[in-house]
Amino acid sequence: MAMKPISGVTFHFHDLAGKTLIITGITRGIGKALLPGLLAQGINLIAVSRGREKMAAIRTELGADESRLRLFECDLADSAAVAVTGQAIAESDLPVDGILHNAAIDPRHHFEKAAPAPWDAVFQVNLRAAVTLTQCVLPQLRQSAQGRIVFTGSVVSELGGSYMTAYAASKGALTGLTRALAHELQGSGVTVNCILPGAIQVEKEVGTAADDAVLAGWQSVGRRLTVADLLGPVCLLLSQAGGGISGQCLTVDGGVLHPLMSRDVQRGRLQSDGYA
Ligand SMILES: NC(=O)c1ccc[n+]([C@@H]2O[C@H](COP(=O)([O-])OP(=O)(O)OC[C@H]3O[C@@H](n4cnc5c(N)ncnc54)[C@H](OP(=O)(O)O)[C@@H]3O)[C@@H](O)[C@H]2O)c1
Repeated sequence: MAMKPISGVTFHFHDLAGKTLIITGITRGIGKALLPGLLAQGINLIAVSRGREKMAAIRTELGADESRLRLFECDLADSAAVAVTGQAIAESDLPVDGILHNAAIDPRHHFEKAAPAPWDAVFQVNLRAAVTLTQCVLPQLRQSAQGRIVFTGSVVSELGGSYMTAYAASKGALTGLTRALAHELQGSGVTVNCILPGAIQVEKEVGTAADDAVLAGWQSVGRRLTVADLLGPVCLLLSQAGGGISGQCLTVDGGVLHPLMSRDVQRGRLQSDGYA
């Protein structure tokens, strides 16, 4: 079944056709927006997400059938449910060539006031669920000619961010996990990497054009990033072409500028030094 790709995307990783990828969190945001692009590459998807009806509606919207998009309903906040889902995928007759851990939560809270429960929830959804699912399907990944594990971190773990301590810590944990697991899987044929998105324009945002301009001004590429900017890096890491990349954390943030190195500050400095 031919799929409509993401608008403007013309690249094609031919070796991904027929590969099977697990993706978590497909009901909105980046996960949902990646689906048409991944399907257009010929990848068969196994979705692990919440809300069966919502998931089924998305599949219908995409015009995909069960062979292209298999649905596993799972609340990733529920550790027992994650283990059951992971086991169900492991015991299915489905091959698994890759797993893209996309789902996450990012509640905001004051560090001093945050109770343990929100911290536990963030670490369960963002880290522990990814660990459990990966453990369950590792035998299938090892059997693949091209086993791939891709975590989704965030530039927040590198740059910081107020009221996001649990989220930033969970994303930082994923970068450590990426490096350590890549070592542990040495020689298995399975690569382990982490994509660190910057500000990606997704449907949940209610920003104005002025907000967009500010965000674009923070980035070397000078424009807002969309999910099309993430699709290529994800496909590269999944593909044969990315087979030599493991244990890496790949930042996709449009080249976020350090405030001290921003164009305006630099221009001022160059002017005062007589260069501009
Ligand atoms: N958007 C950005 O600019 C940006 C920047 C840096 C990093 N990231 C990372 O990119 C990934 C996607 O971000 P996003 O902006 O697309 O997030 P989002 O819009 O909030 O979507 C998150 C997805 O995860 C799912 N999810 C959350 N909790 C779940 C649970 N308990 N069980 C099952 N599914 C659950 C959500 O499903 P429900 O609808 O059921 O809640 C949804 O499908 C995340 O890992 C995020 O940290 C995003």
